[in-house]
Amino acid sequence: MYTQTFPVDVIRRDFPILATKVNAHPIIYFDNAATTQKPLAVIESINTYYRYHNAPVHRGVYKLAANVTELYEKARQHIAQFINAPSADQIIFTRGATEAINLIANSFGQQQIAKGDIILVSMMEHHSNIVPWQQLCQRKGAILKVIPLTEAGDIDLQAYRSLLEEYPVKIVAIIHVSNVLGAVNPIAQMTQLAHQHHASIVVDGAQAISHMSVDMQALDCDFYVCSGHKIYGPTGIGFLYGKAALLNVMPPYQTGGAMIETVTFEQTRYAAPPQRFEAGTPNIAGVLGLDAALSYLERIGGMPSIEAHEKALLTYLYQKLQDLPSVQIIGAPAYRAALLSLTVHGVHPHDLATFLDHYGITARAGHHCAMPLLRHYQQVALLRFSLGLYNTRQEIDSVVKRLQQAVEELGHG
Ligand SMILES: Cc1ncc(COP(=O)(O)O)c(C=O)c1O
Repeated sequence: MYTQTFPVDVIRRDFPILATKVNAHPIIYFDNAATTQKPLAVIESINTYYRYHNAPVHRGVYKLAANVTELYEKARQHIAQFINAPSADQIIFTRGATEAINLIANSFGQQQIAKGDIILVSMMEHHSNIVPWQQLCQRKGAILKVIPLTEAGDIDLQAYRSLLEEYPVKIVAIIHVSNVLGAVNPIAQMTQLAHQHHASIVVDGAQAISHMSVDMQALDCDFYVCSGHKIYGPTGIGFLYGKAALLNVMPPYQTGGAMIETVTFEQTRYAAPPQRFEAGTPNIAGVLGLDAALSYLERIGGMPSIEAHEKALLTYLYQKLQDLPSVQIIGAPAYRAALLSLTVHGVHPHDLATFLDHYGITARAGHHCAMPLLRHYQQVALLRFSLGLYNTRQEIDSVVKRLQQAVEELGHG
């Protein structure tokens, strides 16, 4: 069906929402970093699950339950293969990246961190990768320290090395791709450095997974977390990858049904991972929807072709924005995934977003759940354009044209 290198016009037909109009304008969806739109394959997989497969997993002996358990576990295997994890047992389903980080902080962190230990986060973290660590530090009397950025908006690797050398760092919690700057961080290198100093590394892959191939064995990180809805799957589902040696000795995050081996009133023996970390009835429809999303991405050419398409779009957007003198793009990192944030001299980002919305353009204005980063850039809000696999050059032309119009009509500087 998909014969060209990246037949975006054909691909767009797979996303029903892209036919929507806003104020009589075709929708231009540039808020993919917040959530991505869903292809029909995902929508239909959820429908099919409830029509034909709905039953509990890991419990019933009847055929319906056995069938859906098989589908559910196949989805886990598919995710493991998609991120090149050594085993499906290292994939734990969560509600999303946020819950996955909370799981790691409350299980692994609670187990490993002691008074006076250091946890490193970077200046460009999303709140999801700050607050759980801050809470853990408060509980344990540990200290949260921040890896600074270079002038360009990259992680300052020299400062990172110095922090590792100077302090008893136990955990490094780092974003793979910044949801504000688009910066792609050198995770393999940062992992190597963390391990040289006997620190574990937790990677927030929420923004990376939809833009590039991620390979757990090449990155060698200890934990990696993702949200399904940011990779064209449903909301309410995500996963965490962990190294087997760590998962095997970690205590559960939540307790109850499905995560046990035996229970008496005196004591409980926990199941092995991944079940140990999946208490209660899981989001089965979400898991199958995520599986369908990954299959869809593979069918249209896989992550390398999506990355190439998005890279060309980003370059085009960047060039076009250079022609608008009142636009300032935030940061100039060495490698950028397909998103950027900007300010326009004399116009508030919320006014810009409202103006663009009038023309069917969905762009995000605000602090992007990265208040410390915005403070670093002395901003309270930014306008963000984040691209996805279905975006086109024509859409970029329209967005830049409307942005220019906004500058003319709203600007006063
Ligand atoms: C970098 C990053 N980390 C974590 C999250 C949290 O993801 P979720 O809300 O799906 O749990 C987001 C969401 O915007 C994000 O961009």
